[in-house]
Amino acid sequence: MNHHSNGVSTVDNGDVTKAKRSVTEKKGDVIKEKNCVITRDVPPALMPVVAGLTSKRKRVPYWYLLVTTSETYTVWKKEYSVLQRHSDDIASKATSPVVLVDLGSGASSKTRLIIEAMLKRHGTLTFVPVDVSKEHIEEVGKQLGRDYEGLTVEPFGGLFVDGLRYLSTRQEQKVILFLGNSFSNTCIYEQVDLMKEIRAQLTAKDRFVMGLDMNVDRESLLKAYGQQWVTFQKDNPICRLNKDFDGDMDAAKFELITDFVENPADGDTPSYVTGYWRSLAAQRVNFRKLGLNLDFQSGEKFFFSDGPNWSCKWNLHQIRRLAEKSGFALEDYWTNDAEDCGLVCFAPVP
Ligand SMILES: C[S@@+](CC[C@H](N)C(=O)[O-])C[C@H]1O[C@@H](n2cnc3c(N)ncnc32)[C@H](O)[C@@H]1O
Repeated sequence: MNHHSNGVSTVDNGDVTKAKRSVTEKKGDVIKEKNCVITRDVPPALMPVVAGLTSKRKRVPYWYLLVTTSETYTVWKKEYSVLQRHSDDIASKATSPVVLVDLGSGASSKTRLIIEAMLKRHGTLTFVPVDVSKEHIEEVGKQLGRDYEGLTVEPFGGLFVDGLRYLSTRQEQKVILFLGNSFSNTCIYEQVDLMKEIRAQLTAKDRFVMGLDMNVDRESLLKAYGQQWVTFQKDNPICRLNKDFDGDMDAAKFELITDFVENPADGDTPSYVTGYWRSLAAQRVNFRKLGLNLDFQSGEKFFFSDGPNWSCKWNLHQIRRLAEKSGFALEDYWTNDAEDCGLVCFAPVP
């Protein structure tokens, strides 16, 4: 058995051929012994999870949790109400022919409002849902095609940026949607880069519409992301890790910690909800499928987000700064009565 300084050790099974495929390496992370992790039977989609497990800052990506909190539902309802009022405004941003792109479209439930407004105004529409969950969007896409005359659905199964690169040569005007505060799950240190990447795929006539959570009320956020969701935020994902990698991780030996980190309102960095599992004892977890032993110190944190933030909470100043730093201008901003849910329209700066 080999032990490594970052708390990772690998098991020598003798008869097991260790795969030489490398796991994704993130800047600043230590994944020294990546060749010793058995990745032969790991589906490509789970490789970022392996990378997180074997990194110095132990973590799983946020999408691995598939979390539904009361906050997610509240954001959904608030955003839906803003879209009910302003879908026509979004539709008016484009002239036919138009391609509507929905990043992380999921069930496209709220997007239906914009599809309807676009069809009313333009008569025809090409809709490109982009999501890692390929089968799901293909299924949803078929239903949308049946429901709306004049709609052509072209699902793209893959990552946000790959979908945008794939569409970059299209001549039609594009309206890109990024709803549900999903952008806010991106690590705060990588948000400007992601925006620049999106900007690079657009032309001056395209528009980028994002739904952002602007609720900064500490009490309601801690309640929404708190202990009542322990099953979804801790027990279920640990069970999933054990299933995916034949592990013996014991959820009872970790506690769920969530907090709201408030940043200055006049600064560039949004406030954010952070979350992690804290090891209640020094312990070793074995993931047999990976040939991997993970040693935890008592009190060690295991994050369920790539960065410190799980979900960001914005104000208008921070949104403007984000746009400015990444080659966009804030062209329009719509909100609900409580002004804690924002829909922003960015125009690329030529
Ligand atoms: C919280 S859901 C949002 C669904 C919908 N847009 C809404 O606002 O209700 C996020 C969706 O993004 C997808 N997703 C997450 N990260 C992704 C990535 N990097 N590339 C493509 N899709 C991603 C997930 O599969 C999921 O369907």
